[in-house]
Amino acid sequence: MPKFFATTAKGIEAVAAEELKLLGAVDVEAGYGGVHFEGDLELLYKACLGVRTATRILMPVRDFAAKNPEMLYDQVRRIKWENYLNPEKTFAVDCTVAGAKALKARDGRIDAPPAPGPRGGLSHSHYAALKIKDAIVDQLRQKQGARPNVDTESPDLRVVAFINNERCVLSFDASGASLHERGYRLRGAKAPLKETLAAAILMLSGWDPRTPFIDPMCGSGTLVLEAGLMALNIAPGLFRDRFGFFGWPDFDEALWTKVSDEAKAQVRRRVEAPIAGYDADRDAIASALDNAKRAGLSKSVHFEKRTIETLEPAGSAAGTLVVNPPYGERLGEVEELKALYGQLGDLFKQKMKGWTCFIFTGNRELAKSVGLRASRRFELFNGPIDCRLLKYEMY
Ligand SMILES: C[S@@+](CC[C@H](N)C(=O)[O-])C[C@H]1O[C@@H](n2cnc3c(N)ncnc32)[C@H](O)[C@@H]1O
Repeated sequence: MPKFFATTAKGIEAVAAEELKLLGAVDVEAGYGGVHFEGDLELLYKACLGVRTATRILMPVRDFAAKNPEMLYDQVRRIKWENYLNPEKTFAVDCTVAGAKALKARDGRIDAPPAPGPRGGLSHSHYAALKIKDAIVDQLRQKQGARPNVDTESPDLRVVAFINNERCVLSFDASGASLHERGYRLRGAKAPLKETLAAAILMLSGWDPRTPFIDPMCGSGTLVLEAGLMALNIAPGLFRDRFGFFGWPDFDEALWTKVSDEAKAQVRRRVEAPIAGYDADRDAIASALDNAKRAGLSKSVHFEKRTIETLEPAGSAAGTLVVNPPYGERLGEVEELKALYGQLGDLFKQKMKGWTCFIFTGNRELAKSVGLRASRRFELFNGPIDCRLLKYEMY
């Protein structure tokens, strides 16, 4: 059975592993920065369409020693590229050399290749990506008399290389654009969460979609919209018009239609409990409303301009509150924000009895100003920022 690797942000590997098991993946094993799993083509399509917390789904095709640029070039040239590409198709190469200064590179953006690393080794992602591209192009030009073009935005085949400890794992990217790009969020807002991270936070919170959900500082509405998609069982990939595997030679269009039709048939009509987002900023609420419309969630979630001081929990039933307050980068901002974190603590104590509340923050100093003891903490990364999801049970 084909083996796959779902890449994730650090800290959410275990959540993604559980999701993949529910989607039908076998031999699922959470690793560092992702999840190994196995499955057939149908499972691959279901995973790309339905997984909420993974960033990409890769299919490893070759694993070989690559001690220097020449070895990398030779090994890549040994792959029968005519099985995957021809001069009419486009491709791109993404390369990560673990520990390299330039962590990620796309060959199409490189003007001039930098020098190889010390002792002729591979320490530069740009250079390694260029070597891989050259090997592919040289082989196909020799065999077919013409070469496929590079398209870094929407290639037929995205080749992803990961080089670590003088070994290279070469994979094909089944997802295409990163899976956090659901397609419903067009309007920018201040410091939005990635959709994949928001979904992971919701899963870690243990929120049950039959109970109310509130985000009192919702910004562009990411947590609320991901909650809405979960409550209605809407597969996050249903908004996308393209996946990477569409360009693969074994793309089975009938199977893909079956998988996406089944996902559409599983969408629920109504949410069972209120899902609401509030924010003090008018523009943030306007963008959240816009995004809700695009996600088809206008009737299922509620957004309203409101500050936390005036917040009243929706309905009387207890539920889950998740908030991602500003963290502040400069010292002055951090001082000002202490009062805001204190207000959150007051809100939990005074108005959220019976609720389970969570704060997601990148600043642990500020978290102390909440004035409540967290019953649990999860370590997650928001891009490079080491963050905490803190749980407060309000009895
Ligand atoms: C880090 S952003 C939230 C981003 C959001 N999670 C998203 O994905 O778009 C923090 C938000 O808190 C809001 N905010 C700050 N002070 C507030 C207050 N007193 N009451 C309500 N919202 C507030 C800001 O307007 C901002 O949109």
